[in-house]
Amino acid sequence: MLVCNVVGARPNFMKLSPVVLELKKRGIPQFLVHTGQHYDENMSRVFIEELGLPKPDIYLGVGSNSHARQTARIMMAFEEVCQERLPNLVIAGGDVNSTLAVALVAAKQQIPLAHVEAGLRSFDRTMPEEINRVVTDHLSTLLFTTEETANENLKREGIPKEYIHFVGNCMVDTLRKHVKLAIRQEPWKRFGVKPSGYALLTLHRPSNVDDPTIIKPLLAIINKISHRLPVLFPVHPRTRERMNQLGAAVDPSVYLTGPLGYLIFLGLIAKARCVLTDSGGIQEETTALNIPCLTLRGNTERPVTITGGTNRLVGTDPERISQGIEEILAGEWVSGKQPVLWDGQAGMRIVDKIELWAGDELKTPLPLAGKVSGIKMWGGGIETGKFLGID
Ligand code: UD1
Repeated sequence: MLVCNVVGARPNFMKLSPVVLELKKRGIPQFLVHTGQHYDENMSRVFIEELGLPKPDIYLGVGSNSHARQTARIMMAFEEVCQERLPNLVIAGGDVNSTLAVALVAAKQQIPLAHVEAGLRSFDRTMPEEINRVVTDHLSTLLFTTEETANENLKREGIPKEYIHFVGNCMVDTLRKHVKLAIRQEPWKRFGVKPSGYALLTLHRPSNVDDPTIIKPLLAIINKISHRLPVLFPVHPRTRERMNQLGAAVDPSVYLTGPLGYLIFLGLIAKARCVLTDSGGIQEETTALNIPCLTLRGNTERPVTITGGTNRLVGTDPERISQGIEEILAGEWVSGKQPVLWDGQAGMRIVDKIELWAGDELKTPLPLAGKVSGIKMWGGGIETGKFLGID
C-alpha cells in the first residue's frame, strides 16, 4: 500500500494535513506531492511549516496560468509521478484546479481516488470550483463528506452509497488543533486594534474582483463600514492586481496587508467582531468559532453554515451588507450550533475508512518507491513556480 497525497493551493493544506499526519502516526506508507498552483511564501510554504506537514516529496512547480493550461500542466507532470511511484491510492482535497487535474490522471491510470470534502454543491456552474467538485466526485472511490447535504447531493447524482463516508470536517480538525496557539499570538496587536474591535475581510473570487462594476461599489461600502469598525483586509494577489489596475483607494481605517500565514489569520478570525468574505472555507471557520460571517456571494456550497451556523449570504448588495453590519453591531446576530461531526476527529475517521477499504494490502511490505526523474524535489529557497514537467 502506498498513498499519494496531493496539495496545491492554500486551502488544501488545512484540509489534508490531518489525514497526512494520521497516516504517518499509523505508519502507513505515503508521499506528498505539491503541484505548485500556489507558490508565494504566504500562500504555500508558511502553511506547510505551521501545520507541521512533512516537506513535499515532489514539487511540480506549475504556477499560475489559464484554467486549461494550469490543469493540463498538473496532469502532465502528475501522470509521470503516478507512472514512476505507482501509488495504490491518491488523496486530494477541496475544489481547486489541482484537485480536478489529479482526479483525471488517477482515474485514467486506474488508481483509486479519495476526495476529502466531497459532495458540496453551489449549483452554480459559472464557478470553476463547482465544475471541479462535480468531476472529482464522479471519479472518486472514497468520498469523504463534511455535512449531510453533501451526502444527499451525491446520492441524487447516482454515486453508490457505499462510496460515501460522512466523516466531518478536516479543516475544522486543523482549526481546533491550532486555535489556542493562534490566539496567544495576539495578531490583532500588529494592526493596533482590540479583540472584537475590528472586521476581517477577504475577497478573491473572480466574479467579485474581476469586474470593476462589482469591486468598486464593494470597496466603497467597505470604506463606509470601516468608519464604524476598522477593517483588516489581507489582500489576495489576484485582488491586489485588480485594485492596482483600477487605482482603487481605500480609507486609512481599512488596513491592507498581503496574504497572511495560517496562525495569524486564524487568530484574527477568532477575535473578530465579524468577518466579510467570499471564501468557502472561511464560512466554515467562522461557524466553528461562532463568529458572525457575511458572505459576499449569492450562493454557498456549505449550507450548514447558514442553517446551523453564523453565516448569512449578502451578495454584493450594499444594503444587505450594511443591514448585516448594523445587526452585528447591535448584538443581534444568531449564535450558531456546531455542525454534526465538526469535532476535530475527521482525519482519524478518514484513515479508519482507508484502513478498512485497503484491508490486507496494508499488511504487505512497502514496494520500493521508484525515483521520479526530471521532477524537482522541494528545495530550500522560495519556489518560483517554474514548470518542470513536459512543456
Ligand atoms: C484558487 C482556487 C480557489 C481557492 C483559492 C484560494 C481554483 C480554480 N481556484 O483561486 O477555489 O478559493 O485558490 O486562494 O483552483 N497568485 C500569486 N501567487 C500565488 C498564487 C496565485 O500571485 O502563490 C496570483 C496569480 O496572479 C494567479 C492568481 O493569483 O494568476 C490566481 O491564482 P489561482 O491559483 O489561479 O486561483 P486563485 O484565485 O488563487
